[in-house]
Amino acid sequence: MDRITLDLTNATSDAIGPDHGISSEELAGLRDAALKAQAAVEARRGADLRWMDLPYAHEVHDEVLDYASSVAGRFKNVVVLGIGGSALGNTALHAALSSPFHDLAPPAGWPRLFVLDNVDPDLVGEWLDHFDPAETLFNVISKSGGTAETMSQFLLFRERLVEVLGEEGHREHLVVTTDAEKGILREIVQREGYQSFVVPDGVGGRFSVLSPVGLLSSALVGIDIKGVLAGAASMDEHCKQASFEENPALNYACLQWLMQEKKAKNVAVTFSYSHRLRALADWYAQLLAESIGKRTSRSGDDVHKGPTPVRAVGVTDQHSQVQLYVEGPFDKWFTLLSVTQPDHAVPLPSAYPDLEGAEYLAGRDLGELFTAEREGTKVALTEAGRPNVSIVFPRVDARSVGQYLMMMELAVAVMGELYDVDAFDQPGVEAGKIAAYALMGRAGYETRRGEIEGAGPTERKTI
Ligand code: PA5
Repeated sequence: MDRITLDLTNATSDAIGPDHGISSEELAGLRDAALKAQAAVEARRGADLRWMDLPYAHEVHDEVLDYASSVAGRFKNVVVLGIGGSALGNTALHAALSSPFHDLAPPAGWPRLFVLDNVDPDLVGEWLDHFDPAETLFNVISKSGGTAETMSQFLLFRERLVEVLGEEGHREHLVVTTDAEKGILREIVQREGYQSFVVPDGVGGRFSVLSPVGLLSSALVGIDIKGVLAGAASMDEHCKQASFEENPALNYACLQWLMQEKKAKNVAVTFSYSHRLRALADWYAQLLAESIGKRTSRSGDDVHKGPTPVRAVGVTDQHSQVQLYVEGPFDKWFTLLSVTQPDHAVPLPSAYPDLEGAEYLAGRDLGELFTAEREGTKVALTEAGRPNVSIVFPRVDARSVGQYLMMMELAVAVMGELYDVDAFDQPGVEAGKIAAYALMGRAGYETRRGEIEGAGPTERKTI
């Protein structure tokens, strides 16, 4: 099978017992609710949930590829200026589908890719110390077009470009991805005449990886975006047609709900047994946290829902977190990302035939050790009664990564129905943005600034 699959054996009560595992009756008991949830999500396809259409927006894909070829060979660096949903997918695709060492030694003619998703002056300042904006294409990404972090970075880098290249010359170094009409960035695009792409309506930040938000930077570094989109479309088609029992997105959504609501597992660990897939766990952490972490239900009652996502990388975190996972509180469930076929064979030599502690590795492949470590962790988790499922990638390629992105977006949309929360808003994020605008003295936010300054304890407690 060339599709990623979901193996939920080790989350069942057969494998780990009824206290922590899900019985077939519990899963079957959720079948009707899951199908109803899926139908509710499907009913919004083509209406307000436009992220579902992204794999099929072939004209947009061609525009992205045309622009990427028009600037091919022109820049040494591509820098994404964006944050949250306007950055995590870019990093995830680059980490998964470019070489892990792409940015240290880019293939001839291809640029490096930096995703500067922070305004820490020690990050941005270091970038400026090491790289030349005049050799760089900046992709400014903001759905709202006003996020303070992204706007500040844009202002900074624009100024540097204008200093060196002038008002006219700087423009070809900027390409903006934002709303078609709303927001300050769109207004700036119109004034400056920058090249731009659109984040379509109905595509929230964390659901935007398959729009120009995630596709443009990927195309610029040579990632097979058509392969990613084909993978996403194939998963979408499969999930539309499959029965409940054969539907990985629906089953994953049900598992998440059952694990938290029935088995008290508040923590959802994505454990990537693939170095290249590790940033998919970061992308998913935002998708899950921002979509399901909500104060109110859809009818407005205070419910304070939401799992806490945690990310781990195998084998690295076996030597850091697995002790806790195997023996600590029973508050977690685990999703291992595993890869069947690595791209590289790395055989191990024999050096000390008389030393059994080294010789048992001789003639084996590093991939065998990696697999043994992953399976060993599964055994340890399972024997300790810790529910763990595996999302199995036949290999790490554009198609399988596209399938994963779509599967998780569909699963989280269904989770929203099961948890009865709005999976597509983010009032907590907006509250933080508003507080930052107020504290930075942005006009229109004076009242909020007064509220913040007048709130809290009068005496500080600092030790
Ligand atoms: O998913 C979301 O909506 C957020 O994480 C946003 O992506 C993030 O706040 C950045 O917003 P914007 O793209 O509007 O600059």
